[in-house]
Amino acid sequence: MRRPFIAGNWKMNMTHLQAISFIQDLEYKYSNKNNCEVAVCPPATSLKSVKTIIDSDNIDIKLGAQNMYYESSGAFTGEISPEMLKALGVEYVIVGHSERRQYFGETNNIVNKKVKAAFNAGLKPIMCVGESLKVRESGKAEEFVLSQIEECLNGINEESIIDLTVAYEPIWAIGTGKTATSKDANDVCLVVRRKIGEIFSKKISEIIRIQYGGSIKPSSISDLMNMSDIDGALVGGASLEVDDFIAIINY
Ligand code: PGA
Repeated sequence: MRRPFIAGNWKMNMTHLQAISFIQDLEYKYSNKNNCEVAVCPPATSLKSVKTIIDSDNIDIKLGAQNMYYESSGAFTGEISPEMLKALGVEYVIVGHSERRQYFGETNNIVNKKVKAAFNAGLKPIMCVGESLKVRESGKAEEFVLSQIEECLNGINEESIIDLTVAYEPIWAIGTGKTATSKDANDVCLVVRRKIGEIFSKKISEIIRIQYGGSIKPSSISDLMNMSDIDGALVGGASLEVDDFIAIINY
């Protein structure tokens, strides 16, 4: 049985002061009837503050970062290393988000290096894949996503891979209010799982969690979570509203 995993991607929102008040409000109202694993992924500037509050209140919310570089240290002005995140108590890191791919030139090759670097530092990557509207309309969504999976997971060893989460996020559904139908989302998640089975083993493919992401709302989460191969959600906009995020956790 895969434990459901709901992660909130705050993107570039909230100062660290706003983040503190947000996480306090979230903790105050928190409930988790499905025993999901829950993570929040604030901007790098808020990681430390959010971690301090989660720890002092002893609440079981995990901390994730939204990005990192793949080198450990050195002359890479402005970048943050996996080891730096680990030292802050970060457990998860989002890699290959479509906004990173679109605005910051992140390729499958770079994502592959980041996944490896995350594992090396003891972080658990949430690796994002997903097709554009053009690709979907051309009928090649599955093919496109599977090639992302192959390239991004190239050369990763079997011991590490069990800590991977895949987030299937069709680009046309992110922040647009359009959610993929549960069936369409599940179809892609199913082929992703099969591909992971081919690359690694059937056993591993049954352990790895696959999230769906893209305009998830309290009203759309239950149908998605009822599907066979969707194990959780990567939530953007709705994770910035405490009540909505809690409603999603308690789908
Ligand atoms: P959204 O973002 O829920 O606002 O569509 C999801 C994501 O980009 O992770």
